Amino acid sequence: MHSTLFILGTHRTLSVAELFLRYPKGKFIAVGQDWALMDLPIELGQKDLDALGGTIKVATVLEEVTGGNVNNVLASALAQRDTGTKIEYGVSVYGIAERQLRPLLIGLKKTLQKSEIKSRFINNNFQNITAAQYKSIRGKGVEYLVVKEGARHWVAETMGMQDIDAYSKRDYGKPFRDMKMGMLPPKLAQILINLTGVSGTIWDPFCGSGALVMEGLLMGHPMIGSDIHAERVEGAKKNIEWARPEFGIKAKAELLAHDATKSHTLSFDAIAAEADLGMPHSQQIRPDILNKIMSDLDQLYLRFFQNLKAMRCDKPVVIALPFFRHADGREQFMEKTLRSIEDLGFKRTPLLPDILKAEDRLSLRYSRPDQSVGRAVYRFLLS
Ligand SMILES: C[S@@+](CC[C@H](N)C(=O)[O-])C[C@H]1O[C@@H](n2cnc3c(N)ncnc32)[C@H](O)[C@@H]1O
Repeated sequence: MHSTLFILGTHRTLSVAELFLRYPKGKFIAVGQDWALMDLPIELGQKDLDALGGTIKVATVLEEVTGGNVNNVLASALAQRDTGTKIEYGVSVYGIAERQLRPLLIGLKKTLQKSEIKSRFINNNFQNITAAQYKSIRGKGVEYLVVKEGARHWVAETMGMQDIDAYSKRDYGKPFRDMKMGMLPPKLAQILINLTGVSGTIWDPFCGSGALVMEGLLMGHPMIGSDIHAERVEGAKKNIEWARPEFGIKAKAELLAHDATKSHTLSFDAIAAEADLGMPHSQQIRPDILNKIMSDLDQLYLRFFQNLKAMRCDKPVVIALPFFRHADGREQFMEKTLRSIEDLGFKRTPLLPDILKAEDRLSLRYSRPDQSVGRAVYRFLLS
């Protein structure tokens, strides 16, 4: 087993859920505010991290230190890399106040000097290593992570870091963008795909500009994307054609105009989608109009699931439905729709491991505080 540390993104529970369903053979050891520790049968690297939307860094644990001296563990890890030339390294801390970095880095420097090991730490601002800093030492230097929970410390070596530039290129560089419809952030698209827990073909029946299709292809899934609006399907095709050479995509894609409430003969292993959200994220809610929007969406989702039932679809369905935030902060979910979907026989499956003491394991949110429309994520399975 490989003890693996994940530094989590801003949507912590979604990040944990992604790991829970992406690595079913893994075992959670501990989960902190912005990190999770798992035992996994495989060692992860940059390529694995590139397919995780909710993780910022992935690291292999070198040692668990109970009440011992972290400095010594770091010094001996660095000593093993000593080739006589200056070693460039950085240390980041989690579950520990960042101000502790200064004494830690200076103490470590002194220990290394005593052993006559030439070294230079790159976070001389005494803050955690950023993606840009990591890029500057990748291949020649090393980042260590120190995580603390109670009396336990873990020292880990970073194996992969989120590539922010690649995400923004995919998000903002693609030729077809439709701001009216709102576009799925690539990281959330990856999370939705990983929540399916399958490695085969994924169908996005509400594909819009094809953000989820593009992410699935990059992760190596054969993908099917469809949308009721033919011009969006054409736009999605353009985006995929642009992404293929740009990111070296090899997996197969099928894109077609199709009404998701109607039957078809497509073959797939799971569904992952962001369905119609009804209105732009930033538009103020008007309660009189909201009722009409919710009732239209209710009909759309109900007909979509009725059709899946008629097709005897027994594959996982991961879907982001909207929730609405009123001016007074009250949040309104598609409760009636969820009940109707469950009445059809689609049960919501748990998204979180037991180690996380969560009140609600069946739905997760993705939203910014300033948005009036957020996304609530569910995973259904026909029972
Ligand atoms: C929120 S958008 C999806 C955006 C997409 N994830 C993206 O990043 O571009 C929802 C999409 O659902 C499509 N849609 C609405 N009703 C549909 C239906 N009955 N069948 C298929 N697609 C539908 C809309 O045309 C729209 O493109």
